[in-house]
Amino acid sequence: MAPVPQHRSTSGNDADTTRRPRAIALVGIDGSGKTTQAHQLADLLTAGGMPATYWQNAGGRRWLGRLARRLGRRDPQHLLGRTGLLFVESVLRWLAIARALLRSTLRRRVAVMDRYAACQYASIRAHGGHRWEVVARAFYRIFPAPDVTFLLDVAPAEAYRRIEERGTDHESMEFLAASVAAYRSLPEHPRFVVVDANGTPAEVTAAILDHLAERFPVRPSTGPVAGPVDGLPPPAGPAVPGPGVARIATRSA
Ligand SMILES: Nc1ncnc2c1ncn2[C@@H]1O[C@H](COP(=O)(O)OP(=O)(O)OP(=O)(O)O)[C@@H](O)[C@H]1O
Ligand SMILES: [Mg+2]
Repeated sequence: MAPVPQHRSTSGNDADTTRRPRAIALVGIDGSGKTTQAHQLADLLTAGGMPATYWQNAGGRRWLGRLARRLGRRDPQHLLGRTGLLFVESVLRWLAIARALLRSTLRRRVAVMDRYAACQYASIRAHGGHRWEVVARAFYRIFPAPDVTFLLDVAPAEAYRRIEERGTDHESMEFLAASVAAYRSLPEHPRFVVVDANGTPAEVTAAILDHLAERFPVRPSTGPVAGPVDGLPPPAGPAVPGPGVARIATRSA
């Protein structure tokens, strides 16, 4: 059983139990654990009384990679060219984010975003298409900044290892290192909540929950808890304000 974020505000603002984020974004290089953490976070928030939905804001690179290979090309860039690929990726991600924001707003659910606009700017920088960033920003600027953007900070070698183990795609060490540099160079970077993502999935989840529990009270859950977080010990007590988050808070990365 995974711990659920219970209502416990360590900021002293216990009265404001209605405050909730509209969107939480997870950004970071390939293999940093965004998808793993975003799924987990949506499940835990929902179980804790804050209905949340996971959204994959993909730019289509994996799908385009399969298409490219089917058409006898090495990779999507070989198929579309660098500028063409950045254009298609930017359009697909823009549509995905727009859909996620719209549907989450209509359903009054927290949107847990697996990638957001910053990922597109970082992708453009990492692929050396800098002059197109201004165009992308012009289109993406209509999207509100998420309430919190978690940057999952992982060493390129660890990301490389995970991607190889996952076995669905491949990224070079050079590209992963360039991606790390691209995220760090973004003007948004000072506003990111940087999480050390080199640890176990449970440790990364704990660090994310620790930060959220400071800012957004979640009603106590009386229902079943979402799926397990590997490596986390079982919850210490009943589903009442206190032990869950207090224990997690000590495990901040
Ligand atoms: N903290 C972790 N420690 C070890 N392995 C992890 C961790 N988090 C995720 N993984 C594993 O590493 C792989 C990459 O994780 P995940 O797919 O969540 O990353 P991602 O950031 O979404 O990558 P991409 O940008 O390529 O979609 C997966 O196989 C996942 O199970
Ligand atoms: Mg992913």
